[in-house]
Amino acid sequence: SNSGLLAGRRVMVTAGGTLERIDPVRYLTNDASGKMGIAIAQAARDMGADVTLVAGQVQTMIPDGVNVIRVESALDMLKAVQAHYEKTDIVVKAAAVADYRPKFRAEQKIKKTADSLVLELERNPDILAWLGEHKQHQVLVGFAAETHNVAEFAQGKLKRKNCDLIVANDVSRSDIGFGSDNNEVLIFDGQGLVESVSVRAKQDVAKRILEQAAKLLPEEVL
Ligand code: C5P
Repeated sequence: SNSGLLAGRRVMVTAGGTLERIDPVRYLTNDASGKMGIAIAQAARDMGADVTLVAGQVQTMIPDGVNVIRVESALDMLKAVQAHYEKTDIVVKAAAVADYRPKFRAEQKIKKTADSLVLELERNPDILAWLGEHKQHQVLVGFAAETHNVAEFAQGKLKRKNCDLIVANDVSRSDIGFGSDNNEVLIFDGQGLVESVSVRAKQDVAKRILEQAAKLLPEEVL
C-alpha cells in the first residue's frame, strides 16, 4: 500500500478550466471537467499529504480534507499558485488554463449595436513556465494534451517549462481524457518515458502520477 507515502508533504494541484470575463454577464471558458486534477488532489490526500487544490471551473465534487482555493481567471490562478509555491513540495498543474483573455473587460453589458464586433484577446501568462523559472526544491508536474506526436510534443513542453515530469494524454481519443472518468497516459521525465499507464480510472492514474513524483522528492532534512 502507498498510504502515507506523502505524509508530511505539501502538494498543490490546479484543476479545471479558467474563465475569462468579457463583460458582467459574458465570458470565455473551455470544456475541462477538472476530474483528473481532483482525482490527484484526492489521491494525494489519501497518501497523507497536506493538499491545496486551486480549482477553476470544475464539473465534479470537490473532496473533503483538502484546502480549496476557488479561482476564475488565469491571472487569479497565477496569483494563488505564486502565494503557495514556496512551501509546496509537489505541484501538479492539471488545469486547462486559457491561452488568451479579453484585452478589455467592459464595465457594462455590451450592447448589440454594430453588425460585427471584434473581441481583442491578449496572451495569458504561462503559469507552469513561471513555476519552472522559479523552481527551487519543488517537484513540478505538468500535463500535455496532444492529438499527434504525443511523445515529442510532451517532451518539448517538459524542457521548455522546466518541469520534472510531464503527463501526456492523447486527446484525439474520445473514450478517455476530457470529461471521462478514465484516462490513459504516458509519463515522461527529462530522460524519456518513465511509465506508460494503460486505460484505467482517473483515481488510479492519479496514484501512479503521485508515486512517480514522490520518487523525485529530496530527502527530508530533519
Ligand atoms: O496549454 P499547454 O499544452 O501548454 O499546457 C501544458 C501545461 O502547462 C499544463 O500542465 C497546463 O496546466 C500548463 N499551463 C499553464 N499556464 C498556461 C498554459 C498551460 O500553467 N497559461
